[in-house]
Amino acid sequence: MKPSVRIVVVGDPKVGKSSLIKTLISESFEDEVQPVLPTVVIPPEVTPERVHVSIVDTSSSPEERHKLEEEIRKADVLVLVYDVSKRETLDRASSYWLPTLRRLGVSVPVVLVGNKIDVRGIGADHSLEHLIKPIMDEFREVDVCIECSAKQVFNIAELFYYAQKAVIHPTAPLYDVNEHT
Ligand code: GTP
Repeated sequence: MKPSVRIVVVGDPKVGKSSLIKTLISESFEDEVQPVLPTVVIPPEVTPERVHVSIVDTSSSPEERHKLEEEIRKADVLVLVYDVSKRETLDRASSYWLPTLRRLGVSVPVVLVGNKIDVRGIGADHSLEHLIKPIMDEFREVDVCIECSAKQVFNIAELFYYAQKAVIHPTAPLYDVNEHT
């Protein structure tokens, strides 16, 4: 079993990356969160799989691109966040983020996370749902998709649990970068 899991959270600006991490550790939502949180280290006694977990926040600003790529390369699993109320952020997951991970030669599982379902309303028309399956079919490294709300503290612990589980109990063979070069 892997002794530690490094989770790196990526995605477009303002989708709620920092808020998801902050909400996980404080179990409450704050409107104002610093742009990039320091790495959160969780000891094995309190993680579901009893492993050390590090959660790394990233910046989407162009000046931080080098740092972002460095963090992506060190990840055991990526949490790729989009905003369910902004269709373009999901489009960018498949047109930019997932191809970028492949370009960087990263072959780790990805958890695709739709945040801010409080804006759309839980139980309302799942207008982006039909767009997810083609993404999962094309990018087999997407292990699981989950919707959540940092604001309503809904599905937050679950999404970080799925990220740990994707590393510790992988379900499917991952995309092999070497097969496609
Ligand atoms: P950058 O660091 O700029 O890339 O942003 P980020 O992805 O870290 O997003 P951040 O956590 O700073 O959140 C952006 C805005 O969305 C803030 O105003 C948050 O309060 C808000 N926000 C985050 N999560 C939610 C959510 O679940 N629901 C709603 N309604 N707003 C949210």
